[in-house]
Formats: sequence, C-alpha cells, structure tokens
Amino acid sequence: MPHSAILNVMIKAAYRAGKSLKRDLGEVENLQVSLKGPANFVCAADRRAEEIVREELFKARPDYGFLGEEGGARAGTDKTHRWIVDPLDGTTNFLHGVPHFAVSIALERNDAIVAALTYNPANDELFVAERGKGAFLNNRRIRVAARRRLAESIVACGLPHHGRGDLVLARHEIAAAQAHYAGLRRFGAATLDLAWVAAGRFDAYWERDLSPWDLAAGILIVREAGGFVSDLDSGDAILSKGHVAAGNETMHRELLRLMQEAGKEAARHAGRDETGDLPIARANQAQSSQP
Ligand code: IPD
Ligand code: CA
Ligand code: CA
Repeated sequence: MPHSAILNVMIKAAYRAGKSLKRDLGEVENLQVSLKGPANFVCAADRRAEEIVREELFKARPDYGFLGEEGGARAGTDKTHRWIVDPLDGTTNFLHGVPHFAVSIALERNDAIVAALTYNPANDELFVAERGKGAFLNNRRIRVAARRRLAESIVACGLPHHGRGDLVLARHEIAAAQAHYAGLRRFGAATLDLAWVAAGRFDAYWERDLSPWDLAAGILIVREAGGFVSDLDSGDAILSKGHVAAGNETMHRELLRLMQEAGKEAARHAGRDETGDLPIARANQAQSSQP
C-alpha cells in the first residue's frame, strides 16, 4: 500500500531524527563509564531529535500546530491540524544503551489521529498507519494476535517508579496480571508497547500516567491492525486521562475486567486502616464502645 505524501513527510522526519539518535547512542555507550554519565548528553540528544522532526514537518506543513515532549506546544494558523511528537520514547533505555527506544509522530485532524508512525532506529523497525488504510511494519501489513486464552498470552505494562504513580494500585494490577497471563513484560517504551500489540508480539498492554505523545501514534496503529484501544475506564478519553488498555477484542475486554477488579480491590484495601479494619467496622466499633 503506497503511503500518502503526508506519511512520507513523517517517515523522512523520523529517519533523520533516528540517524541522529543512532549516532548519539554510540556516544551514550562511551559515556556510561564517565563520571558525569550520559544524562545531560541524552537530554541534548532528545532535544536535537525533536528539533530535527519539527524542522522537517514545518518545512512541509508550516501552518500546522505542534506538540512535542521537549519543546511543548506551538500553535499553528491551521487550527484543524496538530503534530504530536515524542522524539525519544524510552529515554531510560537509551540512557543505559538499551536498543529499545523510538521516535513517534502522530498527525491529529479535528481531534482524531489520522496518520501515525513509531520508528525504532536501533533495529530499523518502522511501524506506520493511516486511518482506514491498515497498519504496517517495514511495509508488511500487521495484525493484532488472535489469542483468546489469557493463560497463553503475554501482557505488557508500565511500572510506576520512584515517586511517580500509584504504587499500591500498581501492585494490585500486577498481581491480577500475574495470576492470569502466561507472562508480563515491562520493556520501557510505551510507543513500542502499543506498536508490538499491533504486530501481535504482545497480546495486551496497559499503563497509566502517560502523556499524549506516548499514546497518540500507538492508538491508530493498534486500531488499524484490527485491535481495540480505550482508557482504563472503558472510555475513549485516552489522551486526556493518560491511561490505556489495548489488545484484540477478547484480550482488551478481559484486561479491562481484570484491571477494574484490581482497582476495586486496591480501593477496598486502601479503606482498611493500620488495624486492617474497614472504616465502617471502625465506626461501628467506636459506636459500640460508647457508654
Ligand atoms: C516513558 C516511556 C516509559 C513509560 C513512561 C514514559 P519517555 O517515556 O514510554 O515506558 O513508562 O511513563 O514517560 O520519558 O522515555 O519518553
Ligand atoms: Ca515517552
Ligand atoms: Ca520522550
């Protein structure tokens, strides 16, 4: 399926940014042993990649709006179109020389994602989709996996880490997943987690505390691969709520059921005080001890 002119512009931008990141990855490996470590360098690599993407997209469509993780939002004169860009998704992987990271670009038209790509320059895997035209990996059509049994399936997830996210809720969600799936995977790049669901490598994926640039491209790539994507409340407010569940129809439905049950369980637990009693019991106790 030939790509549209706009998708070719996005691919050119991603390849140019990918080339810069691949060069920087080599340097990151050298910096691992340096006292200062690669942190500052990676931030610079991140910003450089975003500038390259913005430059290429701006050249082709100077009037479109732009939302990038590093540079923030820039309004365009054309209010119906906006680019949503994560120049380096999987920064922590990149920081450690782990070749699992991506450039991700989505085009939004009237609040709907119409074109999307996620490109991992380390293994040269380009995932693309256009609305109504299917999803592709390096020009080969991709479909979500057909598995229906959780016990044969692997689910990918994000994990809240130091100071970010609800650790108690995460523990309940992970325990629920451990009890039902054949395996859990935490690969550290949300855009690739969604692309791998689209390619049938992961059967399902869920995560919270994400930003629009982590999610936008992957939503269209999964849907164009025949998959289902929603927020964790079974709604379509994925970008605004910052949480996501994805998979084929059965996997998506089952994942939502498990995560919503885990949420109730976590709430029940949170309601228990340090004596382990529920607030109601505590109130009753207090009442019954009244003279
Ligand atoms: C992060 C990655 C990670 C996810 C984090 C994101 P970044 O993006 O996608 O997998 O768990 O929530 O912030 O910071 O590497 O672009
Ligand atoms: Ca990201
Ligand atoms: Ca990023």
